[in-house]
Amino acid sequence: MALTPQWLDELRSRVTLSSVIMRTTKLQKAGHEWKACCPFHDEKSPSFTVSDQKGFYHCFGCGAHGDVIRWMIDQRGLQFMDAVKELAAEAGMEVPAPDPRAARRAEQRAGLHDVMQGAQDWFVRNLQSNSGAGARDYLKSRGFNQHTIERFGFGYAPAERQAMKAALPEFEEPLLIEGGLRIAVDDKEPYDRFRSRLMLPIHDVRGRVIAFGGRILEANTKAPKYLNSPDTPLFDKGRTLYNLHRAGPASRQSGRMIVVEGYMDVIALAAAGIEDAVAPLGTALTENQIELLWRMVEAPIVCFDGDAAGQRAAMRAATRALPLLRPSHTLRIVRLPSGLDPDDLLNQKGRGAMDALLESPQSLLDTLWFHERDAQPLDSPESKAGLKARLLDHVEAIAHPDIKALYKRELLERFSNFAFPPRQAHRSGQGKRPWQSGKPVNPLLSPDSKRRLRNASGPAAKVGLSAAVITGLARHPGQIMRHADVLARYAASDRNLAPAIDFLIESAETLEPSDNLPICLPEGLVAPPDETRFSFLREGIDPKAACDDLAEAVSLLVERPALEAALLAATARFETDPEGAFAEQQRLLKRKLDFERRLGQMVSERAAAAAHSDSDRQTAENGEDGTETD
Ligand code: UTP
Ligand code: MN
Repeated sequence: MALTPQWLDELRSRVTLSSVIMRTTKLQKAGHEWKACCPFHDEKSPSFTVSDQKGFYHCFGCGAHGDVIRWMIDQRGLQFMDAVKELAAEAGMEVPAPDPRAARRAEQRAGLHDVMQGAQDWFVRNLQSNSGAGARDYLKSRGFNQHTIERFGFGYAPAERQAMKAALPEFEEPLLIEGGLRIAVDDKEPYDRFRSRLMLPIHDVRGRVIAFGGRILEANTKAPKYLNSPDTPLFDKGRTLYNLHRAGPASRQSGRMIVVEGYMDVIALAAAGIEDAVAPLGTALTENQIELLWRMVEAPIVCFDGDAAGQRAAMRAATRALPLLRPSHTLRIVRLPSGLDPDDLLNQKGRGAMDALLESPQSLLDTLWFHERDAQPLDSPESKAGLKARLLDHVEAIAHPDIKALYKRELLERFSNFAFPPRQAHRSGQGKRPWQSGKPVNPLLSPDSKRRLRNASGPAAKVGLSAAVITGLARHPGQIMRHADVLARYAASDRNLAPAIDFLIESAETLEPSDNLPICLPEGLVAPPDETRFSFLREGIDPKAACDDLAEAVSLLVERPALEAALLAATARFETDPEGAFAEQQRLLKRKLDFERRLGQMVSERAAAAAHSDSDRQTAENGEDGTETD
């Protein structure tokens, strides 16, 4: 019988335990694991746990315990072989036939592993030899150091068509061909697949070399830039992620997993200290790869170029994920500046810029919404119907009933707010406008409500919060990148402040990490703030306290339009959903009160406390209460 332990391991790793158990038992998320009332004994409170990472379920009540195969046997009542067959069908694996040929194939695979490792060792030797000089120069020109070159196993395939065969006489020709290393066409002499290329080994999850990618060294040849191994008994492109054997452990530490488009991006990220990144192998993300990622983290971050091709790739990944979505499992999307891949971004803007982007990925739902919303101008009933139909198509693709219903609700709400913006103010005298992540100012809003949103009219404006934040950041430039994302998003809603925010972020991007000199703001960018009101603007304040207070001020600043817009949206919903809108409004009003309280504290107590030591100033200010609220 040829069901080897390796084959069974592979089977277990390709099936997500919780998704199998979930079919018959209601699971609840509990940290990295799942819990439920045990299906094997009667109980009221859950003592049954499922861990996808460990691949086991366990009941602390009755001791039931096992892997996915055990589950099929004990819970579904299947025979061992039937359980294996059913799981294998699901995992797209072929159950090895119980015959000697299968045993021989298993042996052959073992042989193939040796061939691949032999080829890898030879590629590495070539890189160090005379013939590898060009490849070594190329690696240097891309800025990879020796440590990175060794860690990622870079090698070189020389130009001659028979070099590998001559160098690896211990392996028989058929094995070299089966491993994808040599190409046999008809009855002609076989030849080496990889020639004159910089070589990169591709590993399986257990770290064994199963394939190669080879890059040309000159930009001007007609050959494809990358040549990859064909699918072989060891290598299935759609089920492999480059660097998963290293990124997996890193991801368990970081709780994050990043997907980029290319090998070089993965390597450049690792060279910059970002180890939790993988790449598909020249194809769009497959279902299987998404499932692999979900075994590591619930919301992997897909990071694509900001240009049209990258945008298409992001949408492909998003739509591929829709039918697979299950509770808590999703993709998040980061769009890079147009024309830059992660490797370019790191080279040109440094690690800070990459970190900043990774800190605020877009949700899957936002990605779908913005993509469809911006796909075509919305200038006719037909185009509005078109947008609605495209959104509903995405909803239709979602299999999970709850997630489907929630997407439908949210997307249709965004659709109606966008396609049918309110013409005039209503009831409480407020216009309608929902807060929508990223783009708070709707281009179809009436000029009246636009002005309302733009003009900071609340308490924040009265105390000069925005000018204080800008001035504070200019004095503590080391803090700018920390807030860059929220500020950039905020800038989209506040045209008055946008130039100042852009100026700060641009200045900070070129700053040396050690450089903490204040940034000089061009005149007229913001009105000079009242320096006595904000602790972080005062001379001599403890830098740590200043940074904390500044962070609080930034969060107050960006929270304001979100809160106000959400209130407008809740008010607008009164017609269609009075009960829901009322509850939402109550909740938001409470948040607004809390906001005003925090703002009040910021400008009075904190500044007063800071001013305490400075008693002259204290008396001078006594008459004034800084906490005016509307
Ligand atoms: P890119 O062209 O973005 O490659 O292709 P890259 O990683 O930025 O490479 P450099 O920086 O130019 O060296 C992304 C991925 O698409 C696949 C490879 O897997 C590559 O990493 N690809 C690309 C191919 O398989 N063949 C090609 O000809 C080009
Ligand atoms: Mn690149």
